[in-house]
Amino acid sequence: MIRKYRIGTPIETESVVREVEITPGIPAELAWDEPNKTFSMPLSEDAIVYGLGETVRGINKRGWTYISNCADDPIHLESKNSLYAAHNFFAVADHESVKGFYVDTPVKTEFDIGYTRMDMLYIRMDEPDVNLYVIDPEITGTPSKAAEADTPIRRVVRQFRYLIGRSYLPPRWAFGYGQSRWGYLSEDDINAVIEGYEKSDIPLDSVYMDIDYMERYKDFTLNDETFPDFPAFVKSVRDKNIHLVPIIDAGVKIEDGYDVYEEGIKGDYFCKKEDGNPLVAAVWPGKVHFPDFLKPETRSWFGAKYDFLIRQGIDGFWNDMNEPAIFYTEDGLKQTFEKIKTYEGRNLDIKSFFAFTGMVSGISNNPEDYRSFYHAYHGETIRHDRVHNLYGFNMTRAAGEAMEKISPEKRLLLFSRSSYIGMHRYSGVWTGDNQSWWSHILLNIQQMPGLNMCGFLYSGADTGGFGANCTEDILLRWLGVSLYTPLFRNHAALGTRDQELYRFPHADWMRGLIRLRYRLIPYIYSEFMKAALNDDLYIQPLSFVYPEDERALHVEDQLLVGESLMVAPVYVQNAAGRMVYLPEEMKMLRFKGDVLTEETILPAGDHYIPVALKEVVMFLRKGHALPLTEAAKTTKELDYEHLKYVCFDASADSYELYMDDGESRIPE
Ligand code: GLC
Repeated sequence: MIRKYRIGTPIETESVVREVEITPGIPAELAWDEPNKTFSMPLSEDAIVYGLGETVRGINKRGWTYISNCADDPIHLESKNSLYAAHNFFAVADHESVKGFYVDTPVKTEFDIGYTRMDMLYIRMDEPDVNLYVIDPEITGTPSKAAEADTPIRRVVRQFRYLIGRSYLPPRWAFGYGQSRWGYLSEDDINAVIEGYEKSDIPLDSVYMDIDYMERYKDFTLNDETFPDFPAFVKSVRDKNIHLVPIIDAGVKIEDGYDVYEEGIKGDYFCKKEDGNPLVAAVWPGKVHFPDFLKPETRSWFGAKYDFLIRQGIDGFWNDMNEPAIFYTEDGLKQTFEKIKTYEGRNLDIKSFFAFTGMVSGISNNPEDYRSFYHAYHGETIRHDRVHNLYGFNMTRAAGEAMEKISPEKRLLLFSRSSYIGMHRYSGVWTGDNQSWWSHILLNIQQMPGLNMCGFLYSGADTGGFGANCTEDILLRWLGVSLYTPLFRNHAALGTRDQELYRFPHADWMRGLIRLRYRLIPYIYSEFMKAALNDDLYIQPLSFVYPEDERALHVEDQLLVGESLMVAPVYVQNAAGRMVYLPEEMKMLRFKGDVLTEETILPAGDHYIPVALKEVVMFLRKGHALPLTEAAKTTKELDYEHLKYVCFDASADSYELYMDDGESRIPE
């Protein structure tokens, strides 16, 4: 059952698609402390808090403060409070009860989950204007696809998912492996990557085009020196069944004669300052204006621009820098230069020295800048900081809405860096600028259930790590995680070590793991589509299915992937294997590369499982089956007809396979 409470006068976010009658007052579950503008709730000793989507730290969110304030921050340390997203849904489960809470407000919101007090949960926001939803496991009152047979936590999540509407459906090719790097400059660079994959016989479905394909980082332009005949180039790549996926950034370069800029000014599509002039900020192209994506007119104008690339054969995009990231604003920079002058010739002491260095480092993504411009939203002028968390959502919504018109028959690939719940109906997400760190493999594992709970089923991390130099062993182990994530893209930052799989001495081991992904695609696609079409989870924690199992409740590094598999990836440097907890009897499947070499039924309990770098071990759940196909060069060439089934035993003789043509749109 879903209860809705309206407190104050909340700003509409358009994240919810179902009508729920408003219950007066505030929910009995929460206490309201007016002077401190804080909701609070005691946490029992055994309570586990799940959710909040893309955040730092573990699957159980207890023990930290998470702040929903979409941030362009490439250093995802556990000491951080905010990443790129604002996903304000969480569920609290203990032995007595399970409840879901959706705090629907675009303003900065703090979730103090056992940080101030281990036994308390606090929700703080500057202005308590919020639509608050409380969800009980009982399915009464609200229609829902959630099945009665589900566990209470799954019923809560599925009702929430029903509330926010169906998740985005990508085309099937988007489940293939993709190669990306910031620094591919030209057709030649991209062709060399494709050739590298061909020569090493590693499957590949997509190559990503980062900012350098554009003419001086201007959205919806092409550098025609490095891409002299783009449609012909796209076609030559597509003839190999490979898709090119260009990036689109939020900021529009200020440049006379540049059509997007000129149309934006003419159509009044940009965010403005108090004085009525458009905000001048800077990102990759230098000075830019930010489209006011909260205005429907801006969305249809900007969205229609994607056709510039779609009509040249492009069928996938990633939207970036849409928190929005601000290197500096014209006004902020001016003030900083003025202040800096006053420091000249001074003997800088402890205070003034740090004030001086802080001035320069603080010009990027400065909170003051986010308070200096406005949106036209639902007939009102709203200062950016009050709707900050909706910006990336609405940029991506612009693209998603336009794509439905431009490509009414075929699904296109779309994912975004910044997001708010509601964006999950239009696109997926990637988890931004992680690092080639072992701890970020674990973070990848731990972020997936929260993202799924919030509707972002199509998601994944930069495999191998974006920042820092990658090593062969990190990459191999990371492949062993991304193998299961719907988005499987290797991406690296400019200036870091080459990270394409064929560049490494053990490329043959990597080939084996990518081929295994392709063998699993019928299963991954089927499980993904069933989850998306039924408001279900594609990836979930063990405790969602085994809530009675005290041990399973606290497993932070194993996941259930679809209905048949439990996975326990190795993510520790130099580990030769790992301990795995089986909540029930399961069949261990050992793959050497893509070859299934061992099937052993193991009893419930703890097991040490050796896993060599070139191997992957997964666990088939009791009573379940796993369809496998043969590997192929691309998803297009996979055989979806003649599947072989690995079965737990003779009783596991059925599997509901979801099949379609992999690209037609599916009406709701
Ligand atoms: C941002 C993105 C990253 C991209 C880079 C250059 O840092 O998160 O993926 O490579 O910008 O466009």
